[in-house]
Amino acid sequence: MIRLFVLQRPVPQALVGQAFPGVDLVALGITDTGAGETRAVLDIRPFAEDDREWWVVADPTPGLDGRREPMRQDYVLGIAPASLSLVQLTVPVKAERALDIGTGCGTQSLHLSDRVNQLVATDVNPRAIHLTRWTAALNRVELDVRDGSLYEPVQGERFDLIVSNPPYVISPPGEGLTYRETGFAGDTVVEQLVRNAPDHLTDGGWCQLLANWTCVTGEDWQDRLAGWTGDRSAWVVQREQLDPAEYVELWLRDAGLHGSPAYTQRYDEWMRWLTEQRVEAIGMGWITLHNVPGTLTAEEWPYEIERPIGPHVLHRFERLEGLPGDLTALHLRVADDVVQETTGQPGAEDPATIVLRRQRGMRRAEQVDTVLAGFVGACDGDLSTGQILAALADLMDRPVVDLLADYLPQIRRLVVEGFLNY
Ligand SMILES: C[S@@+](CC[C@H](N)C(=O)[O-])C[C@H]1O[C@@H](n2cnc3c(N)ncnc32)[C@H](O)[C@@H]1O
Repeated sequence: MIRLFVLQRPVPQALVGQAFPGVDLVALGITDTGAGETRAVLDIRPFAEDDREWWVVADPTPGLDGRREPMRQDYVLGIAPASLSLVQLTVPVKAERALDIGTGCGTQSLHLSDRVNQLVATDVNPRAIHLTRWTAALNRVELDVRDGSLYEPVQGERFDLIVSNPPYVISPPGEGLTYRETGFAGDTVVEQLVRNAPDHLTDGGWCQLLANWTCVTGEDWQDRLAGWTGDRSAWVVQREQLDPAEYVELWLRDAGLHGSPAYTQRYDEWMRWLTEQRVEAIGMGWITLHNVPGTLTAEEWPYEIERPIGPHVLHRFERLEGLPGDLTALHLRVADDVVQETTGQPGAEDPATIVLRRQRGMRRAEQVDTVLAGFVGACDGDLSTGQILAALADLMDRPVVDLLADYLPQIRRLVVEGFLNY
């Protein structure tokens, strides 16, 4: 099995017969035979993490040992690093109903199966639908697999959680690979998913996507995305931004075209098309939309984060949406993972900079002044925020109202970002 599926080696037919007695793998479309040897057409492999283990059916990895090779147009991706980053981004909520759009081989659905009552998975690729049904059956996961584009197969239905690692690659119209490209122009596949999410979410439901978006000359990318999320509470994190040439190179390599005669032609076409669309860069990251009234926070955060990040995403939304307007009565405690870094001239009385850094979650760092550092240092849950600020005002001989005005917004931010708990 390892030689056949994992190493993609030809195996004598007789050996395969011994490993799978009484099963006609050829008739099932799992293997192909010729000259007494059998080759795998599909990849069937175990996947395990923590206390869970599954069997996953997908297309074989195209090219081993670091090589990339061209793949069939309806190629079904196995469990890829991007799939796992969406798994790790997903908020750890229990849901009555969840929707996995563009399910591929069923990765997201498998990961949701132990905390969702009713799971619906969709795809436009008949091969993906077929393989997802097999993956679900092998793992005894009850999955409603439907054929259709984006929200078409779930018209009039609502979900507590929608996840999608959609085919977001921004490329010229034409023949693409179904697992990463669609007939949608530019980034409209992501736009459609986001704009229509509230119509398919229950109140307080979540929609989480991995995405690419275009940064168009003369437009602010944050404003464009704010137009998509409208009046909902949302958070977009741009993890990386590539210029068009880097972007095209990345995806041509992914398609296995590196070094092939088609490479230069595809490269030129793609670059010309991006220039015509006035695309000056492409943002890559995540979108989380919480179906409650609110606004969008869109930020660049290319730094290392804790994984899984999902629990921290949930925590941040809870803080942002649930904190009282007036913080002065709260008894705050500094989180265990916060460290203080000070820099300055040797022997200087005061530090030149003070940075508070979290070790967990987004691993945020906040530069603070001595007053705010003093405030955070005093947050052991004993005194209220108002009492600590009043004591600091007294110490500094400043009106307390000034300190409240100056520091409460910053304290709010520290609470939202998990530096301070209550
Ligand atoms: C990048 S793969 C993601 C697979 C899997 N969900 C994962 O996380 O690994 C994108 C999937 O979207 C599917 N897809 C492409 N166009 C679609 C559309 N218009 N509507 C729904 N799914 C689509 C592809 O067939 C492919 O299975």
